Amino acid sequence: MSKTSATPPSDVLDRVLVMEMVRVTEAAAIAASALVGRGDEKAADAAAVEAMRKAFDGLPIDGTVVIGEGERDEAPMLYIGEKVGGAQGTGPKIDIALDPLEGTTITAKAGPNALAVLACAEEGNLLNAPDVYMDKLAVGPGYPDGIIDLNKSPTENVRAVAAAKGVEPHEIIVCVLDRPRHADLIAELRSLGCGVVLIGDGDVAGVIAVTNEDTTIDLYMGSGGAPEGVLAAAALRCVGGQFNGRLLFRNDDERQRAYKWGITDLNKIYTRDELAKGDCIFAATGVTDGSLLDGVRHRKDGTMTTHTVVMRASSGTVRWVKGEHRKSR
Ligand code: FBP
Repeated sequence: MSKTSATPPSDVLDRVLVMEMVRVTEAAAIAASALVGRGDEKAADAAAVEAMRKAFDGLPIDGTVVIGEGERDEAPMLYIGEKVGGAQGTGPKIDIALDPLEGTTITAKAGPNALAVLACAEEGNLLNAPDVYMDKLAVGPGYPDGIIDLNKSPTENVRAVAAAKGVEPHEIIVCVLDRPRHADLIAELRSLGCGVVLIGDGDVAGVIAVTNEDTTIDLYMGSGGAPEGVLAAAALRCVGGQFNGRLLFRNDDERQRAYKWGITDLNKIYTRDELAKGDCIFAATGVTDGSLLDGVRHRKDGTMTTHTVVMRASSGTVRWVKGEHRKSR
């Protein structure tokens, strides 16, 4: 069973105000929201990155981006290894995993579940995952430890969760990214009679959906970005639920990236707590409406409203923050 309350609080994170992280994701979401439905993924992403980068400046931390916009030569801002925060050398050392715009295509097309998202923890507590794919399997809180296992087939995992829930396999609902590579997985789930919720993009929200009974989603299955896997694991660390992730490599270049970040066992299955350890903070602000959060609203009088969730692993506290922002100030 997930025991988020067993995570000791971090004195270092105490000094990083939870609300400061909200301001960072709010800034990115507001910037991206001006480009919702405009068909320009790059512009939306760039706006979110720039706003998030700027919002970090005032924070009293000695922060390092461990999951970001790519490697230094690929990304002008928020690249892996970039130092952020206004207290370099003096403030608490914080590792940050971020995705200023999770769901660039969603934003360009005004679809659901685009988020500005980050997780932070004391130095060394977030896996420095390379930007490769990850096979993911997640279940919500309340199940015995080890109920899910990536070494087992989708059918075995569905049967195990159904038995623990006291229902038939055909009553289990599974969320999967709608991709041709998942055709066999979807066919297997449908042959069991499972409900399959297909999402176009945004698997951070997809994984978190297993923790929210209102979504009726029991399991998340399938491959997506490894960085998004670390972000989702950090969220599950705060609210409970189990996660298995295995990095997937398409070529030697991707394998070399993993070695570069200190990963030697390329077949390892990471549990939630191996991806995000110790105390951590997770924050996400909705860019567009979704199952987790409302998107940014621009009102006639020039105000903008934001909807953010911020969670902390040590306390298990989940705060839903509605922000009202005035463009004029
Ligand atoms: P972006 O915001 O980078 O576009 O990512 C969206 C996303 O759907 C992620 O949520 C997911 O992990 C990944 O893309 C899946 O990758 P692919 O689109 O290559 O299947």
